[in-house]
Order: sequence, then C-alpha cells, then structure tokens
Amino acid sequence: MSDTNSNSTVPETSHVPVVLIENVNPNVRNMEYAVRGPIVARAAEIDSEIKNGVKKPFAKVLPANIGDCHATGQTPITFIRQMQKERAKKRILAGCRGGSIGSYSGSPGVEVIRQDIAAYITKRDDVPSKSEDVILCTGASDGIKTILSMLMTGKTGNERAGIMIPVPQYPLYSATLTEYNAQPIRYFMNEENNWSLDISELRRAIEEAKSKCLPRAICVINPGNPTGQVLTRQNIEDVIKFAHDERLMILSDEVYQHNVYAKGSEFFSFKKVLMEMGAPYNRHELASFMSASKGFMGECGFRGGYFEVVNFHPAVKACLLKTISVKLCPPVAGQAVIDCVVNPPVLGDPSYDRFMKEKTHVLSQLKEKANLVTELFNSIEGIKCNTVQGAMYSFPQIFLPPKAIEAAKAKGQTPDSFYCFSLLEETGLCVVPGSGFGQKEGTYHFRMTILPPLEEIRINIVKLAYGSPRLSGNDLHLCTFINKWRSCDSYNIL
Ligand SMILES: Cc1ncc(COP(=O)(O)O)c(C=O)c1O
Repeated sequence: MSDTNSNSTVPETSHVPVVLIENVNPNVRNMEYAVRGPIVARAAEIDSEIKNGVKKPFAKVLPANIGDCHATGQTPITFIRQMQKERAKKRILAGCRGGSIGSYSGSPGVEVIRQDIAAYITKRDDVPSKSEDVILCTGASDGIKTILSMLMTGKTGNERAGIMIPVPQYPLYSATLTEYNAQPIRYFMNEENNWSLDISELRRAIEEAKSKCLPRAICVINPGNPTGQVLTRQNIEDVIKFAHDERLMILSDEVYQHNVYAKGSEFFSFKKVLMEMGAPYNRHELASFMSASKGFMGECGFRGGYFEVVNFHPAVKACLLKTISVKLCPPVAGQAVIDCVVNPPVLGDPSYDRFMKEKTHVLSQLKEKANLVTELFNSIEGIKCNTVQGAMYSFPQIFLPPKAIEAAKAKGQTPDSFYCFSLLEETGLCVVPGSGFGQKEGTYHFRMTILPPLEEIRINIVKLAYGSPRLSGNDLHLCTFINKWRSCDSYNIL
C-alpha cells in the first residue's frame, strides 16, 4: 500500500471513532459489577497517593472488598504449588495431548481430571457422579454464564427469559442478566432470620414476575455471598420442590462448599438432596458450580472451576458441549489446580501431613475471623450483623441518620456509597456498598470480606467504631468515624 493514502493527508482531529459509548451494545454498557467498582478505583488512587508521600490518617488501604484470598495475605497451599510440577508431570500430563500442559484440552476439560472430580462428588455426596456430566470452566463465573446463556429465550416482553436471583446477590448474576437482556426475578433473603431463604418469598417473587417474563431458572448461592448464610437441608428440599412445581431449572452456586464455620451449620449439595428426595425430584435439572478460587485454596488467578450437569436432556447436553467447544477449552493449569482440590494427598502420602496442617490452619483462621467480625460489628451502636455462618463475607446493616441520607442524595450517591467512600477516606478500609449487591429499599449495608489478617480486621473495625488514631505533634487525636455519623453536625461533609 502506498503512503499517499496514509493518515498524513487526513488531519488527526477529523477521525471519529467507529465505536462510541453511545453505540456500544447497551446491555454491555448497562452492566454493573460493584466488587471492582468506583470505590475500588479510589482505593487504588489513595494507595498511590500514599506511595507519593501524601499524608493520610492511616498507613495503607486495607482491601476488604473482594474475595481474593492470596491478595489479602493468605499463604498458598504448598501441595497445590508442588503438584503443579510433580503430579502434572505424571497423570495430568499423560492426559494432555502431546504430553504438554500447553496443548488445548478437550472442551469439557482433561478426561482424568473430570474423572477425579466425579469421584470427589461421589464421595462427598454418597451419590454417584459421572465424568461425562462434569465440565471444567474458566472459573465458576464462566460456567454460570454458559448455563445462563443457554436459558435465554432472546425475545421481548413476557417471552423474555426470567431468572430468579437472590437479593442480596453476587453481582455476576445481575450483570450477566443485564448483558443477556434477561429479566431478573429478585427474591429477598430474610435478614431478620439470619439471611434465610423463605419459600413464601420465592412464591411472591415468581407470581409478580409471571406477567413480565418467562421464568426459566432459580439461582441459589449456598453458602451465600455476600450474606454468609448456610442453607439447611430442609430449606434445600423446599427450594427443589418449588423449582419442580414451577418448572425452573436449578443453578446451585456452591463455590464456598468448604467454607462453613458456624456451629450447627453443615453444607449439603443440591445434587445430594435432590437425588435423595427420590421421584419425581431426582429427575429434575440442576447445574452446580465449584471453583478453585475459594475454600481453603483461594487460587483465584488460575481460573479453575467446574460444573456438574444433572438430568440434562441428551439434546440439550449436546448443545451445551457445542457452545463450550466454541471457547476451545478452559486453561489447563487451572484444571490442574482443581484436580488438587478434588484429589488431595491421602494418609501415607509424603505431602499429607503438611497439606492437612495448612488446610486446617486456613479454615480455622477463617472461622475465627467470621466469629470476630460478627462479634465486633454487633458491639457497635448503629451496626447490626448476622452470624457469618459460611463463605468469606460479612454484610452488616448500617443505620444512617436522615441528615447523612440527604447529604448523600445531594451528592448523587447512594447513602451506603457515601458512607463507604467516607470510611475509605478516613480509615483506609475498602468495603463495597450494599447497593452493589441489592438490598431492601430503605436499608443500607456494606460487604466486608473476612480475608485480611485477623489483627488487621480487628484494628480496622475498632478504627471504624471508635475513630482512626491521628498523630499530630505529640497528641493522639481520635477522629470518631461512627460518632461523626451519629451526630452529623460535627461531620465535615454534612
Ligand atoms: C458466589 C460466587 N460465585 C461465583 C464466583 C466466581 O468465582 P470464580 O473465581 O471461580 O470465577 C464468586 C467469586 O467471588 C462467587 O462469590
């Protein structure tokens, strides 16, 4: 091509971008994902301000906004790292094409890993699982999006697919439904009863939605994010009966299945309960999701995940296999990490003792932090926090004075965002406003992970309650964050 046609003849300024924000797919434009939203961007700015010598009333930002375990100080499990070299060399590499982890695997994943996962599920549930029903994915997020995409009816009005999602929910669900132009059918978790799931509320939500969309599935997150509840077996049975009666497929997000802390709480998989309920429920369609990102391993960056499809019609399953084949395959290194999770060292293996010690340590620390967070939040006037029974988050309710609510509205922010931004600026604690997950009208919350080190959590909650210590000269000046919010008059923004 000759240079005469090049940009030199066209003034730089005359180029109008072909893709403008106005003509980006509106569904993509309208997606929101609070976990990495504006408050997190501000936290990153504050971090670099501190590095550049700007004085703040705190030494560093404490990121308690995202369930990224290693990023907040958790030590990786040694076995998983060793295995990346050792086991990969033998069994997994033998299952890889050309004996290389750098080859594409089959689209549903490496066959030996699918077998290991099926064996894990069988042992966990005492109910058979088949490797043909196990599909590896790029983190659970990818699997959830794949299944949801299959349920879209792609139409408008009351033929548009409706998907039941909890409120509060992990925003992957609301964002994906926006992207796919589906109708979220929101059911509220019962905060007064430790975020339990009430069947009467499911009925209310679906009845109201029937004139607006075509209800197709119900998503349940157990243990819950951001709410931290663990469903009882009876509750799961009731959800299955409801889904069966309403002809809804079940998506059970069970990525926190290893994260159960509260006395009396126990994890039951939807698959186990559904199968043990017998006919007709044991024929009902279910997809359940698991991840390498959570549990005791927290290997978020490997993007390992899988889902098990139960009772799918053969033609639908073939269609599913076709759609995942377009993505070629999930990362093989992530698949290998999942293999470690489902196939850990056993008694007698050289890595067994160390593996058990590290796993137990991580889970017992999380349990201690879950208790500490609940206790500390509930000791503060103006905050109420349900027991963190499982998962990795607390979701306390904050009671804001009317003047604070007005001031937030005047600034064009939701009151909880306003609160969280102030909290970040004053104390360095980065949490996510409840509005990013959904909450009952007129209530305000935030989500704080229980991942940072115990002592840092304690210090930050105490700072939140009683003020962040500021040193000026020899004086220790206590700026009382919560007290400022209670008596808005002394709060400088108000
Ligand atoms: C409830 C829930 N589901 C799914 C995911 C996605 O996990 P992954 O990293 O496997 O994509 C998360 C991540 O935080 C989550 O909390």
